[in-house]
Amino acid sequence: MKLKITSRARLKGTIKISGSKNATLPLMVCALLTYDEIILQNIPHISDVLMMMKLLQDIGIRVIYQEDEKTLRLQKEALFVNLKKEDIKKIRASYYIMGALVANDLNFKTHYPGGCSFSKRPIDYHLDAFKKVGYQIIEKGEELIFQKLKTSDDIINYDLPKPSVGATINVLFISILRKGISIIHNPSLEPEVQQVIEMLKLMGANIIQENNTLKIEGVDHLHGITYKIMSDRIEAGSYLLLAASVKRSKIIFQNLDLTYLEDVLKTLKQMGLHFKKHNNQLVVKKTKRLIGINKTIDIYPAFPTDLQQILSVACLKAKSPSTIIDKIYPERLTHLKEIKKAKGIIQLVNHQIKIYPSYKLEAGSFYASDLRCGFACIVLAVMANGTSIIENAELILRGYENLIDKLRGLQVAIEEEKDDF
Ligand code: EPU
Repeated sequence: MKLKITSRARLKGTIKISGSKNATLPLMVCALLTYDEIILQNIPHISDVLMMMKLLQDIGIRVIYQEDEKTLRLQKEALFVNLKKEDIKKIRASYYIMGALVANDLNFKTHYPGGCSFSKRPIDYHLDAFKKVGYQIIEKGEELIFQKLKTSDDIINYDLPKPSVGATINVLFISILRKGISIIHNPSLEPEVQQVIEMLKLMGANIIQENNTLKIEGVDHLHGITYKIMSDRIEAGSYLLLAASVKRSKIIFQNLDLTYLEDVLKTLKQMGLHFKKHNNQLVVKKTKRLIGINKTIDIYPAFPTDLQQILSVACLKAKSPSTIIDKIYPERLTHLKEIKKAKGIIQLVNHQIKIYPSYKLEAGSFYASDLRCGFACIVLAVMANGTSIIENAELILRGYENLIDKLRGLQVAIEEEKDDF
């Protein structure tokens, strides 16, 4: 899929933020942890969620999706694991299925997950955790064969070298129904992980957060639940950065969870954006040239890595230079090539991204090599003089609901470019 976008100096309109992708995906997998029905509300209609529905259906989960109501009903029936490599490879979050199948004490075959490959993204913490609960994992190329060999110790400690989102959730999955106590040291406490903890607790799990640890005492079973998914802080941040990137903008944000956006809003305020809260809505105004920023990307509550590439693009039109250091994914740099195509001035110096005022950005053909790079290309195309093409744009639909309509609602001149045959 190709998108055609013509530059615009002013944006105006209202945008409603959807449910969070990175919270929805593990919450869906929680259906494997109970025989009761779970009902999830505020489901975003994005291709990663549709793929997860297919994966769950293929292993014996009854899936009823009421798209108009944004509701998903999931219920475990008899599990039969027949995971297809091409499906597993389509999304990163397929690693949650490994954790949930381990929680069910099953032997199964699967594959390394796919998803955005902007950097090396190992899953060694996950595999080490599965081994600690008694699994042998044989690797045959990309295939992973899981065999439960022994029962696990009463008390298991997990020391995560880095606070990984995926590994923390997977350790929660394999611990909540296990007889005994599990302690996660250095867990990720990103808002999406907090959502999973909250829902699991409401389902009957015994999870205690103390200092920088999560202590889990296994329970016999979990029960069903109806749960509303938080609004997507990364989608919100992406459109906030779009509002910051044009000469003038006035955008009204609805369904926004401000608590999780503190550092993003603080950063944009420092750069010169104005905010006003009005009846549960946030009115965002850009009236003057941005000021450059020095930003370190780190774990929550710091500025999120998923917005680093889009922030890099927004900084191009600032009147002073900016420096960004991404401590989570220092190699998340696929956007640099696209920015250079538009004649933006950007350099990598000792893992620091240096962005210089680049007033004359040129339209071009940009490539969405990963999800967030794709949205960064959209912002670049709106800023660059002329009409640009974004290739591989279907990737952006993995994480942004109703992308084209939402952009049009803000007056972005966007069209889907049909391929000539
Ligand atoms: N890490 C390891 N080994 C592991 C796991 C992680 O070395 O086994 C390292 C990573 O290489 C990275 C750090 O730990 O340096 C943190 O990675 P994390 O495990 O937290 O990332 P993830 O769980 O694979 C999720 C999101 C990403 C988001 C990161 C960081 C999902 C499905 N993905 O990935 O979202 O960038 O957390 O917040 O939740 C996106 O939405 O565009 C996206 C890539």
